[in-house]
Amino acid sequence: MTGSAKVLISEAQIRARVAELGAQISHDYRDAGELMMVGILKGSFIFLADLARALAIPRRVDFLSISSYGLRGNKAGALRLILDLREPIRNRHVLVVEDIVDTGHTLAYLLEMLAARHPASLKTCALVTKPSRRERHVPIEYVGFEIPDAWVVGYGLDYKDRYRTLPYIGVIEPDQ
Ligand code: IMP
Repeated sequence: MTGSAKVLISEAQIRARVAELGAQISHDYRDAGELMMVGILKGSFIFLADLARALAIPRRVDFLSISSYGLRGNKAGALRLILDLREPIRNRHVLVVEDIVDTGHTLAYLLEMLAARHPASLKTCALVTKPSRRERHVPIEYVGFEIPDAWVVGYGLDYKDRYRTLPYIGVIEPDQ
């Protein structure tokens, strides 16, 4: 079931920001040859689909998935890779595409794991970030939206696997 949520970032705002990010990334990687976009499942699938099509440079797409034990605010030790990339990234320009960065533990774990594979470059694009919740410093070169501490859903983001297909980003109460 998909419920509704109070609109925080509208469909039009998302569309405009994804176009801006696409233009900026295309410009920054114009001499890079080919960009390898790495989407983090499940939350990034809609953002990645739109961002990949907003680029004007050669790009390919791969995915990986991380599971976290327990609830939000996990420490890095509680994270585990459950689906790996299909392709090697050595000497490739890699852009990690994340739905949201909250405490930063997930992204820190991912960046460490991917850096060990010796890509030519490694950067991150996050649709949403909540800077006030950060526990680990993580570099995020491309940010869609900075938001205050709230649980957001829609445009790929879920609450208990619901709301992912809402076309906007909205706020729900965690016990709703
Ligand atoms: P972090 O490791 O605390 O940065 O958490 C990152 C992960 O927590 C994200 O990839 C999401 O899966 C999930 N998450 C954190 N905040 C939200 C939210 O507001 N809505 C939906 N998922 C969230």
